[in-house]
Amino acid sequence: MMWPAASEFQQKMGRAGSNSALLVDTPEFKEKYNVQPFMFGHELGNSSLFSVQRLAAVAEKMLEQGNPKNVTTRVGKTSLADAKFSGMPLKERLAETVQQISEANVWLKLTSADTIDAEYNEVLQTVLREVEQRSGQPLLHKITWAAMTVFLTSPRVLTPYHIDHESNFLMQIRGSKHVHLFDPSDREVVPMEQIESFYAGDFEAAQYRPDLENRASVFHLTPGKVVHQPPLAPHWVQNGDDVSISVSIGFCLRPLDRVARVYQVNHYLRRFGMRPTPPGQSMMRDGLKKAGIGMVSKSNPTTPGEILFSGLTRLSTPPRAVKRWVRSLRGPVTRPG
Ligand SMILES: [Fe+2]
Repeated sequence: MMWPAASEFQQKMGRAGSNSALLVDTPEFKEKYNVQPFMFGHELGNSSLFSVQRLAAVAEKMLEQGNPKNVTTRVGKTSLADAKFSGMPLKERLAETVQQISEANVWLKLTSADTIDAEYNEVLQTVLREVEQRSGQPLLHKITWAAMTVFLTSPRVLTPYHIDHESNFLMQIRGSKHVHLFDPSDREVVPMEQIESFYAGDFEAAQYRPDLENRASVFHLTPGKVVHQPPLAPHWVQNGDDVSISVSIGFCLRPLDRVARVYQVNHYLRRFGMRPTPPGQSMMRDGLKKAGIGMVSKSNPTTPGEILFSGLTRLSTPPRAVKRWVRSLRGPVTRPG
C-alpha cells in the first residue's frame, strides 16, 4: 500500500521502509488482542510529529477553539510549584507545564488531539485499520468512539491504579515508563462489585492490592514500543527518569458498551440486596438489562461519558425511576438478577 501524499507521518513511514505503523506478529496479535496485555513495536517515534513544541501548539489550539476540557494539567504531590500552579488560569498552566516539564512534577494530557491536527487523525485512522487487519476481526463498524490522546509527563510521575472501559494501545515516543498491567479476567484482582461500581460512575472503584502485585505483567515501555491494554485490565504506570511523551489510541466497541449496561443494572440490583447474574451467563437477563438502559441512553453519543452514562443520568432524575425499574426486575430477593 502506498500513502497518497507526503505528510510528515507518511514521510516517516517511508523513511522507515514500512507501510505499517504497528510492528507485530499477526498470530500473537490475534491470540491476545482485547484478551491480555502484550507489548510490540511501532513506527511513530523519533519525528517532530510529537515534539513538545507541536504538542504545545495543539494544546493552545484546543483552548482557542473552546475545548478546555480536552487539555488536562496535573501536578504531582512533590511539585514545589503546586500551590502557585493550581491557582493559574489554564492557558498559563499550559505554558508553565511545557516550560517546566523536565524539572517539575507535572503532567499534560491532550484528549482527542486527532480532532485538532489532521496528521494525528491520519495516525489514528491508520492504527485502527491495522488493528482490524491484524486482529482478523471486523472492528471499524463496531467502534462507537475513538481518539488519540497524548501524554506529556515529567520524570518519575506516577499514574495511579485504575481501570478503563476502552481498548487501548499506548505507544511510547520519548522517555520511558513501566506499565503494570493485570489480567482483566482475574476477579480476585478486580472483583465484580468493583467493575459494577466503576460503571455506575465511581472511577476509583478498582482497589489496588499490594499483595497481588506479583500478578502484574510489567512492561518497560521505551521509544518504539507499544503496549496493548484490554478493556478493564487494571493498571498503574511509573514514569522513568526522563520527560515522557506517549500516544494513546483508545476506542470503545459497541458490544462492550452494551455489556457495561449489564454491570450498571447489576450495581443497583446488588444495592437492593440481590446477587445479580454476571454478564455472559444468561442471554435473556443480559438482553433485558441492556434494553432497559439502552432505551433511555442518548441515541447518538459523542463521548465515552455519553456512551456509558447517558442512560443512568436520565434514569437518575428522579432517582425513584431507577428504584421502580429495578424493583420490576428483581422479584424475590434471593432470585439471581
Ligand atoms: Fe488508563
